[in-house]
Amino acid sequence: TQTIEVGLLGFGTVGSGVVKRLTQAATKITQTQGFRLHLAVVAVRHLNAPRAVSLPLGTRLTDSIQSVVTDPQIQIVIEVMGTLVTAEAAIVTALKHGKSVITANKDLIATAGDRLTRLAQRQHCDLFYEASVAGGIPILRTLTDSYATDEVEQLAGIINGTANYILTAMTATGQSYGQALVAAQAAGYAETDPTNDVGGLDTAYKLTILSQFAFGQALTLAQLKPTGMTAITTADCQAASKAGWQVKLLAQVQRHAGQLYCRVAPVAVPNQNALSQVQGVQNGVAVTSQAIGDCLYTGPGAGSTATANSVLNDVIVAAQHWVQQTRGPVVNPDQQRLPVQSLTE
Ligand code: NDP
Ligand code: HSE
Repeated sequence: TQTIEVGLLGFGTVGSGVVKRLTQAATKITQTQGFRLHLAVVAVRHLNAPRAVSLPLGTRLTDSIQSVVTDPQIQIVIEVMGTLVTAEAAIVTALKHGKSVITANKDLIATAGDRLTRLAQRQHCDLFYEASVAGGIPILRTLTDSYATDEVEQLAGIINGTANYILTAMTATGQSYGQALVAAQAAGYAETDPTNDVGGLDTAYKLTILSQFAFGQALTLAQLKPTGMTAITTADCQAASKAGWQVKLLAQVQRHAGQLYCRVAPVAVPNQNALSQVQGVQNGVAVTSQAIGDCLYTGPGAGSTATANSVLNDVIVAAQHWVQQTRGPVVNPDQQRLPVQSLTE
């Protein structure tokens, strides 16, 4: 059985899930894929910090990212550290050393995805980031594969688990914003610094990635002008709910008459709209397209296991490419450049 060597950068919420799922799925992977994934090394910042999950025998722990991304034995690098500068430097070095890269880092992909994709293309390396949008929902691969001949007309999503968890808790249990945020952090849904979760930036980053896959065109923060949900109170949520609406932090992008219209903002969604029923850490992405019409994709939008599962699905595809020697990015390049109008003003 061929063995593919994997290096993991980050052993926090998502990294722990990756280690756990890799161990749990090892037999299934060997049986169904015909290769073995070996986690050779895990890089962390604090070597002696207590860990939620034990490393398998034979997996090294290091505090040197460089030693992982330049290790000639490593074929696939998984980046789940977060950060911008450190993660980009690690991914660039890994790609320059011919490795496939899997990341869950939406901040980085939304802001530097274009140059990283071009580097991956030049290096004939895979660069996948399914886990960067909507946690456990395989939405990027769905948009790539299931809409290959279709035309997406509009997309609306609840794509931040933390914000949706907080809004749901404020509505259903009357918790304060602060209480609900602490619970979302304890559950591992929030970013290390939750400012982007509640401030709309995390949603905006994910919408730009979704827009690239749905319309072949990324969006910028300047175009999106995201508004977060920090001004929403428990009283607002409960009053809206009584009147038949659910307050949601909504991401929207629509193509109309040769233009893209977009918005990231808290919206009162009527109960008749299926997105209003997406609760807690769940995410929901509603896609309207010419051929299929309306589809709604829902599932866990954050958290260790679901996110790690998306990471591992990318790892499997990258490993298949190593085995078949068919590596190279299948990420949608930018295809068009329509004028973009924010609906926020
Ligand atoms: P955590 O803060 O839980 O974990 C980060 C890990 O990266 C830690 O193990 C940390 O080491 C390590 N790390 C950070 N900086 C460095 C560095 N300079 N050198 C070596 N190791 C480093 O983050 P999460 O697991 O929650 O998130 C990771 C990534 O996944 C982020 O990009 C996030 O946006 C994304 N993501 C998170 C989801 C979630 O539900 N949490 C869902 C989808 C995506 P140490 O432990 O020693 O401090
Ligand atoms: N903090 C993010 C969220 C993690 O709550 O949605 C998933 O990207």
